[in-house]
Amino acid sequence: MSTKRVRKFYGADIPDGEIIKVVDAQASETTRPIIPFIDGDGIGPEISDATRRIIDAAVRKCYGDKRGIVWLPAYAGDAAVAKFGTALPDETLELLEYFSVAMKGPLGTPTGGGMRSLNVTMRQHFDWYACVRPIRYFRGIVSVVKRPQDLDIVIFRENTEDVYAGVEFEAGTPAALEFIALAKKHGHSIREDSGIGIKPISRFASRRLVRAAIAFAVENNRKVVTLVHKGNIQKYTEGAFLKWGLELAAEEFGDVIVSEEDLWKVHGGKLPEGKILLNHRIADATFYELLCKPKQFSVIATTNLNGDYISDDASGPGGGLGIAPGSNIGSRSAMFEATHGTAPDIAGKGIANPCSLTLSGVMMLEFIGWDEAAVSVTRAIEKTLRSKTATGDLARFMKKGNQVGTSDFADAVIANMVKPRAATVRAAIEGRKAGK
Ligand code: NAI
Repeated sequence: MSTKRVRKFYGADIPDGEIIKVVDAQASETTRPIIPFIDGDGIGPEISDATRRIIDAAVRKCYGDKRGIVWLPAYAGDAAVAKFGTALPDETLELLEYFSVAMKGPLGTPTGGGMRSLNVTMRQHFDWYACVRPIRYFRGIVSVVKRPQDLDIVIFRENTEDVYAGVEFEAGTPAALEFIALAKKHGHSIREDSGIGIKPISRFASRRLVRAAIAFAVENNRKVVTLVHKGNIQKYTEGAFLKWGLELAAEEFGDVIVSEEDLWKVHGGKLPEGKILLNHRIADATFYELLCKPKQFSVIATTNLNGDYISDDASGPGGGLGIAPGSNIGSRSAMFEATHGTAPDIAGKGIANPCSLTLSGVMMLEFIGWDEAAVSVTRAIEKTLRSKTATGDLARFMKKGNQVGTSDFADAVIANMVKPRAATVRAAIEGRKAGK
């Protein structure tokens, strides 16, 4: 569908291009989609520029001028404050709604007060309920563990509730004191000078997140889905997430899943062909097992805060935050963004690793069905890292690593880019599906 110039954003006509429609988390086919891009704060502009250059090069390599992405600048964070006097203009929300699929760099959030996280606000506003974060190892990266290739997982983090719901009351405020009084009425003693945070976990959101994770495992031929929770302590939130997740799995995927108990009792420890093991782990043990027994994981479904911690933790063996991508998926729109934050310690120096955002762009390309370009980018990044050319976060651990800045890294990736053969694309898709 071509744009009819009926709408202006930020006082300008929208460029020529197509609007992607997302229905049930599936994107419509396009050849010249308009994709809004929020560069973000800190290192955001540096890695956004590199990412667009790499993706554009891959699209050109794969499709010539038959396809192309029309990037549309969108504003949030510092750039929006400078331009419009507010960190998240209504028009940005309208624009993201209008175009359905977008990308963004990181946005800063003050700690211990100040404005609410723009990321969280957007995730809730658009109901991007699943934060999907694949984590795998790229050869060439020097890891802190011996077998980093053993960790190949996709994390489904619930994205709309938990302590991120933002229901918090500062210590000493009337609302905090009211909650303390209410707790007392129900037999709980809380110190008067406590700040109060509420952790809502609903049956609805837990079920739909677990549904998305198991459906992904079915679709992608992954063999294990692990529900991660802290239900031993937080019984009616984390424990309920587990209960509702298991309940959903039995109701909707009963013919596919095998419980850990049945795996041993009924199947002698061998997962039958075509089945998926649905097990569960307590969050703290998961941190340890991800490092020490990574092979047992494939898809993780978890609550919001656990998912945040686990994503960063799991990214470590594969090279850390600079390389782990992410996406926020809703049924009617999606946002592709890096896992890491604004990295204020290295912002403006031109040394940040763009891979996390670029690989989020690969997820975006897969989402819109441009698998050739997705494979082209991934292969070029693989080749570049294998040749030991990398930004400082990775190169400093490589023996005779060629340490380059963000922009030079993007150039190196582009120089290593080829149009993949059809068989390579098919193999990559199958490999992705098998978790290889
Ligand atoms: P951070 O992820 O920005 O940085 C943590 C460490 O990782 C730093 O040493 C940083 O230099 C390094 N790092 C991160 N990305 C890198 C990259 N691409 N290349 C090389 N090194 C990289 O986390 P931090 O410092 O806790 O948070 C900074 C700000 O970012 C905060 O305001 C936070 O709220 C925000 N944030 C935003 C996110 C988002 O927009 N989705 C996600 C996480 C944090």
